[in-house]
Amino acid sequence: MQRKVTKAIFPVAGMGTRFLPATKSVPKEIMTLVDRPLIQYAIDEAREAGIKEFIFVTSRGKSALEDYFDHAPQLEQTLREKGKTKLLEELERSNMESGSIAYIRQHKALGLGHAVACASRLMADEPFAVILPDDVIAGEVGCLKQMVDAYADTGGCMVAAMEVPHDKASSYGVLDVKEDMGSLVSVKGMVEKPAPGTAPSNLAVIGRYILTPQILKNLASQQSGAGGEIQLTDAIATEVAKDAGVYGYRFQGQRYDCGSKAGFLQATVAFGLARDDLQDELSNYLEELIASRRAAQ
Ligand code: UTP
Repeated sequence: MQRKVTKAIFPVAGMGTRFLPATKSVPKEIMTLVDRPLIQYAIDEAREAGIKEFIFVTSRGKSALEDYFDHAPQLEQTLREKGKTKLLEELERSNMESGSIAYIRQHKALGLGHAVACASRLMADEPFAVILPDDVIAGEVGCLKQMVDAYADTGGCMVAAMEVPHDKASSYGVLDVKEDMGSLVSVKGMVEKPAPGTAPSNLAVIGRYILTPQILKNLASQQSGAGGEIQLTDAIATEVAKDAGVYGYRFQGQRYDCGSKAGFLQATVAFGLARDDLQDELSNYLEELIASRRAAQ
């Protein structure tokens, strides 16, 4: 039996350049899918997986993120007085308990691995999760919960994995598969952003990880890798030859790359269509829009 995973690191210190100029003043993680910011989806997924401590690696200009998790007593009181119970419940979901949340600064965007290493002092000698909020994963059971359940049997390190088109593999960390067991694969190598045509497979790493404390030690002495950044993939790759090993987990669910404009728009439409209060109006609008575009062609 493995130790329980109760801490998660949320690296949110990136510059979000693909969403400029919006990200000049709005952190990417605060951008909303329908009416909830990306970070709320990540927090809900973490809570479902049993996470109790939430560690945010932030940077300059991310104070809106800290404010978002604060309680809003006046607003709550007004909603209570007006009997707006559903809205009140929704608002209360965004509250974090005192002491359950910590913020640490990454002063320079030196890469995802560096961001995770910044949280080292807050971590204990136990496994922890890493969640990238711009990968939004919709599914019946949250992706991290699926991984935590699988991890109870495997131990070691585990990354969320997904098949991507071969010509897109060079945008991801890619797994070199030792043994394919269905939803679980054991890994014999990992490469971050392989040069086109050199990827060992089309099984890509998506932004959910369960990692051992050894990863933090690896990161502490690690040189920069692909793109001149300190890569988390490289720190995990060091572990493939060790006894505990590294596993990829093919999760059930639909992943949206909300770090890209196209992915964010797709998620907005999909989440809108999944909402009872919006689906009729939105689907009518989309059908009309597509029909009029076709007619104009
Ligand atoms: P991205 O590669 O999406 O980079 O980072 P980014 O800066 O957020 O966005 P673009 O590419 O400029 O548009 C993946 C995740 O790693 C975090 C980001 O915040 C995001 O959650 N990250 C990346 C850091 O926390 N620090 C870094 O130095 C780099």
